[in-house]
Amino acid sequence: MEMSNEHIAALRKEYLLKEFDESHLLADPYNQFKLWFKEAIESEVNEPNAMMLATASTNGQPHARIVLLKGFDHEGPVFFTNYQSDKGEQIKENNKVALSFFWPELERQVRIEGTAAQIHPEQSDEYFYSRPIGSQIGAHVSPQSKVIVNRMFLEDRVREFEKLFSEQPLLRPEHWGGYVVKPHLFEFWQGRSSRLHDRFLFSRKDTGWQIERLAP
Ligand SMILES: Cc1cc2nc3c(=O)[nH]c(=O)nc-3n(C[C@H](O)[C@H](O)[C@H](O)COP(=O)(O)O)c2cc1C
Repeated sequence: MEMSNEHIAALRKEYLLKEFDESHLLADPYNQFKLWFKEAIESEVNEPNAMMLATASTNGQPHARIVLLKGFDHEGPVFFTNYQSDKGEQIKENNKVALSFFWPELERQVRIEGTAAQIHPEQSDEYFYSRPIGSQIGAHVSPQSKVIVNRMFLEDRVREFEKLFSEQPLLRPEHWGGYVVKPHLFEFWQGRSSRLHDRFLFSRKDTGWQIERLAP
């Protein structure tokens, strides 16, 4: 298929599936998120737990990439990664982060903003040991975000670590674990026709969550 700017500009979709108005809103954004997430699973959204994670270095440069939601506890959403990766270094410098989910099958977007903190090591252990052995070894093998010479570098390290762990227990590397994002903002977006979408913003105040409708 030819890929001209005209083709790109002509890509267009009307959102007609659902409405989201004041009568549908739950007072607690955690419950609202859990309800929408459940509906995303029930609607067989492809990778419903894939979310964009944006971090920003102290020089103001934003960085965005996908990570997987692996839990949503009373504090907020949890994801796992390498603490020494670029994102880990950026969070160390500046723990303000943003997350966004896009569930096209439901014509929905959810945005979350908050601060990231490392979860307790025991919680990271619990998830680490639930992963397939190959993924556990992978966490040891990959110096995430560092430049490597070729793929063989990784394959050689897999063999090295497989040998090591045939002789000693396979423990979670200290540099690998979870972050929880403690939210101060949620936005729920439902696509509507003619670009007149429904948007609701939840902002955390001392007295509780303030809810406002935003223009699309
Ligand atoms: C669908 C999908 C899921 C991903 N899940 C994770 C994840 O849960 N944790 C992670 O560290 N990287 C995950 N990645 C890889 C990241 O997008 C990214 O490449 C990696 O974490 C390095 O990012 P950084 O160099 O900015 O730290 C995922 C990528 C995709 C496309």
